[in-house]
Amino acid sequence: MFGVVCRRNWALRLSIVLNVCVLLYVCAHFGAVSGPWIEEGSGWGSSGPAPSQEMMYGTVPRLNGTATASAPAEPRSALPAARQQESKQPGPAPEPVRFKVNETKSPPEAAESEEAEQRPDRTANGNIKKELTLQEAILCNDKSTEPKTAQRGDYWVLYNYVPMSMKVHCWESVTYTTHADYTFLDNLEPLLERWRGPISIALHAPGTDFPATIEAIKHARSCGSPLVAQLVTFHVYFSSKHVPKMIPVGEKVASERANCSKAAPWINVNVGRMYKSERKLLYPVNVGRNVARESSPTHYILASDIELYPSPDLPVKFLEMIRKSDQPALLRPNPKVFVLSIFEVDEKSQPPANKSILIRMLKMGTAIPFHKKLCAGCHNVPRSKEWQEAPETNGLHVFHVGKRTGNFVHWEPIYIGTNDDPLYDERLSWEGKSDKMTQGYALCVLDYDFLIVDNAFLVHRPGIKIFKKDNYRDTLTAKTNVLIKKIIVPELKVLYGTRKGCAV
Ligand SMILES: *[C@@H]1O[C@H](CO)[C@@H](O)[C@H](O)[C@H]1NC(C)=O
Ligand SMILES: *[C@@H]1O[C@H](CO)[C@@H](O)[C@H](O)[C@H]1NC(C)=O
Ligand SMILES: *[C@@H]1O[C@H](CO)[C@@H](O)[C@H](O)[C@H]1NC(C)=O
Repeated sequence: MFGVVCRRNWALRLSIVLNVCVLLYVCAHFGAVSGPWIEEGSGWGSSGPAPSQEMMYGTVPRLNGTATASAPAEPRSALPAARQQESKQPGPAPEPVRFKVNETKSPPEAAESEEAEQRPDRTANGNIKKELTLQEAILCNDKSTEPKTAQRGDYWVLYNYVPMSMKVHCWESVTYTTHADYTFLDNLEPLLERWRGPISIALHAPGTDFPATIEAIKHARSCGSPLVAQLVTFHVYFSSKHVPKMIPVGEKVASERANCSKAAPWINVNVGRMYKSERKLLYPVNVGRNVARESSPTHYILASDIELYPSPDLPVKFLEMIRKSDQPALLRPNPKVFVLSIFEVDEKSQPPANKSILIRMLKMGTAIPFHKKLCAGCHNVPRSKEWQEAPETNGLHVFHVGKRTGNFVHWEPIYIGTNDDPLYDERLSWEGKSDKMTQGYALCVLDYDFLIVDNAFLVHRPGIKIFKKDNYRDTLTAKTNVLIKKIIVPELKVLYGTRKGCAV
């Protein structure tokens, strides 16, 4: 429905202004095109009671609550590194450890031939047999993870305010980059149980939301899974008009332990009383997205919304696909991103642990494609029907190479990419929707391949969304659409040029 309405909208937009307005209005309603970030239904941080462990973790192997510096998961053993860091931490502070991937052993012949050790030497006919290590396959430089306070437009950003304790090289994993306010930190544990790689999160914390954010960071690091302290880097940002009264140094926050007998700060928050709500601030979603992305310690990133849980062990499996690079789609010259299909499951179900279980749930109706009931067109993925019918196989592979054109011209895919991909427009807010559209347009004009990955997927935190009207957001959406059409698109045309078939 979305697709039809919007295409009509497109055709009409040059004609009668009134019609355009009406259609945009309709579109905005049925095309809740923004990400899964706190959609209607879940409301601003209406965290409610914490879901049970069963529900959160599903069938994913659990960690022992007492683990400290242990490896995050079997295949990857994180070894204690020789170096010591920030060792002022009292109590059972996590040891400095190095994140370790399961280095797949290259076959013996790998070591011998030197001729084809870098990706550019590969030819499209895939003749080169040499097995690369990850470090050879992913050419990248480690980035500084030092804390840094800096301005970004109208915002102050505390980059790497509380860094992850593990050290990771840029080729060793994939970073899940995301944005939130502190009321969403209950998602970290279920995310980490499945992801088991670095997370870079930018927290919006204006005014008096800041102290609560600090308490939430401490609580998440001290009271739940040790993976939080090991693998999550917290960045914090706020408008320069809403600077908090006091900002402790990040080291202090990292070393202090929360009182774990108290309820987690994200439980039962009265969202209406938060600083952000009382001051009627917009949520600067794309500032957060970009901060988290640019601060990623790894080359590959999954820029996602925090309520989207990945299928288990995605980083290891993804990197193995990249390392092998033995599929034609991976050797095409176009810039590329790796798209993940998104699903939602009903409240009573756990997110599926693998594609086989997902397929069964789709058949039973306990899982559905994401936003099917809100806006089937927005997140539909090319060849999704075939994808859902194809049985699970070993490892990841590219199922199909899609483009953001035709039926998918308004597509807002979530994908694994790199920081070479265009950033998100920081003038767009979550409330105004369409916050990923202009980036999608840039990808289209730059002729990106959208490689749809098989055997991996994202699942929204359990609970299927239904449509709820929101007059405040509708007003903002209309304004945003004007901003996009009148200001941003003309800019993008100058910056990136145009390409037939691409639209915002
Ligand atoms: C990790 O390594 C072990 C032993 O080397 C191997 O059996 C296992 O399949 C590997 N796991 C992955 C995910 O590559
Ligand atoms: C921790 O919180 C509990 C419950 O509020 C309280 O009874 C206890 O005294 C606190 N402990 C410390 C050390 O503050
Ligand atoms: C998927 O998960 C189920 C339940 O853990 C397991 O029985 C099944 O073997 C898995 N399928 C594959 C292909 O790994």
